[in-house]
Amino acid sequence: MIRARITGTGSYVPEKVLTNFDLEKIIDTSDEWIRTRTGIRERHVAADHENTSDLATNAAKRALEMAGVNADEIDQIIVGTITGDYPWPATACVVQANLGAVNASAFDVSAACSGFLFALSCAVDRIEAGHSKKALVIGAEILTRIMNWEDRNTCMLFGDAAGAVVIEAREGENGILSTHLYTDGTQLELLYQPGFGTKLLPSAELLESKAHTLHMQGNEVFKVAVRSMAEVAKIALKENSMSVEDIDLFIPHQANIRILHATAKRIGLKDDQVFINVDRYGNTSGATIPLAMDEANRAGLIKEGDILLLDAFGGGFTWAAALLRW
Ligand code: ACO
Repeated sequence: MIRARITGTGSYVPEKVLTNFDLEKIIDTSDEWIRTRTGIRERHVAADHENTSDLATNAAKRALEMAGVNADEIDQIIVGTITGDYPWPATACVVQANLGAVNASAFDVSAACSGFLFALSCAVDRIEAGHSKKALVIGAEILTRIMNWEDRNTCMLFGDAAGAVVIEAREGENGILSTHLYTDGTQLELLYQPGFGTKLLPSAELLESKAHTLHMQGNEVFKVAVRSMAEVAKIALKENSMSVEDIDLFIPHQANIRILHATAKRIGLKDDQVFINVDRYGNTSGATIPLAMDEANRAGLIKEGDILLLDAFGGGFTWAAALLRW
């Protein structure tokens, strides 16, 4: 059967690093508090001249290079992002132009931290249906531009990055085995950006109230995230008649270390099955999974035939998993 197989991975993080010690100078916090509560030591911050599409384009170029695929061979580009260059058009359109991917359709997916897996699922479906041969799926974010830098509960958690994969239609047993997407829109105000869409139009008053920044009820999000990520992971395993021992590498959305440990424990994973890099990048929302996958891949941690479980949770709420044989 035709499967969607990952043939190249790439990632890009901006040069500037913001450590917890740097944050101590901006907000009332400490390196020790942030490390013990979140596992984060530092995060990367985009330069003023960099846009989300620039991060996405750089990551995509690296993935294309690894796959040995030219930009004009790509027939679909899907970017998972909640911090696109513009409200519209899609950041994927900018990436398409930057790459010269003249034969690709391009659109964005807005599913917050689950954005990459939602985007991946769309691309896989088109490949399996025979409508696409080579796709670029990207997660890219500049979250530091929607932070309230006076809110110590949120601003220390997030960072900027992009990750990308090339997926190609291939015969055989290796590739993406299944994807699983879920949504519960009834609690969206626990994690969201109130403005500026059609509901709240920009005004001096709303800017003053920081309506354009990320708002989060951290404690509530924590509980739902762990429960949902564990549930969807189990569903992915069950659907493929696999057990937790079959997983060679679990690559979860890198929200914070306590969410990762609690989720891994609920699924029954051992520490050496779990890939963690949240300490160096913080939560980069839609970018965490492709960034982590690229790091693991380039470090030689993934071998042909390995079973990978990708798992995410984000604003919406949205949550998702993908199970794949490398
Ligand atoms: N430095 C020092 N103190 C802080 C900081 C900080 N950066 N942030 C909060 N505090 C204080 C609070 O003000 C509070 O003080 P108070 O008791 O005087 O009011 C105290 O620390 C405890 O606050 P809590 O919110 O109870 O702290 P908690 O242990 O829950 O940790 C955290 C907060 C890290 C946000 C936690 O709730 C969490 O990890 N939530 C998950 C949220 C998350 O990761 N969201 C990412 C998006 S969703 C996703 O990606 C899955």
